[in-house]
Amino acid sequence: MAGHDASGHLHVSAESKAPYDEETLARLHVDAAEVISRYPQKRSALLPLLHLVQSVDGYVAGRGVSFCAEVLGLTEAEVSGVATFYTQYKRHPNGDYTVGVCTNTLCAIMGGDLIFDRVSEHLGIGHDETTEDGKITLERVECNAACDYAPVVMANWEFFDNQTPESTIGLVDELRAGADVRPTRGADKVCTFKEVSRVLAGFPDGRADEGVGAGPASLLGLRIAKDHGWVAPEGASGSSNGSSAASSSLTSTSDGKDGSK
Ligand code: FES
Repeated sequence: MAGHDASGHLHVSAESKAPYDEETLARLHVDAAEVISRYPQKRSALLPLLHLVQSVDGYVAGRGVSFCAEVLGLTEAEVSGVATFYTQYKRHPNGDYTVGVCTNTLCAIMGGDLIFDRVSEHLGIGHDETTEDGKITLERVECNAACDYAPVVMANWEFFDNQTPESTIGLVDELRAGADVRPTRGADKVCTFKEVSRVLAGFPDGRADEGVGAGPASLLGLRIAKDHGWVAPEGASGSSNGSSAASSSLTSTSDGKDGSK
């Protein structure tokens, strides 16, 4: 186990550095080889491999850092530098479900701050802390680009729209009880942190096309435009106005910095 002391410094336990057993290590090597084969340079596979070791340990343990460094020909310092930069990588044991309450501006004023405070009180934990049963890690998260459904709560990055303190307390209670919980949109149920980490490592679970992606609120502008026959000006999607560069930059940011930034 690893944790923070009162000063906030991270302590990585000896257990975090304990070697993988033979079977786990062999499976990790097979999976890592498949991931690495997708990239022209193997060091480019670091982000998915960090998700892969999280899918085994539930966080990026010391042995996960060592494994990534070894198979990619990097130093442990280089791997740690990446793992500590992105919020989707956890450097201490995470709960089965990361419940992220959006407390960015719009969600906050629509009730996100109140939701966080009530759920925090209900669970007895603060930001980036985990319940004693290891089920829930609570986080304040940044905008999830779902402001039209504010206030929004994410459970392992599945959307729970238009939340209230009561509905979110109901959500965490159901997750803790082991119930199958259906998000407002997207997949039919919330998967565990380890399961989701394996998908993010590049091993699809077949759920990507389940459920509705964009709900009525997100599509309202499109419907109004269609009703009025409005279309984008000629050339608006080209690179002449810089939109291509902007969109490409957004894509890489959401892929790396994670959906909660
Ligand atoms: S501010 Fe919460 S989803 Fe955008």
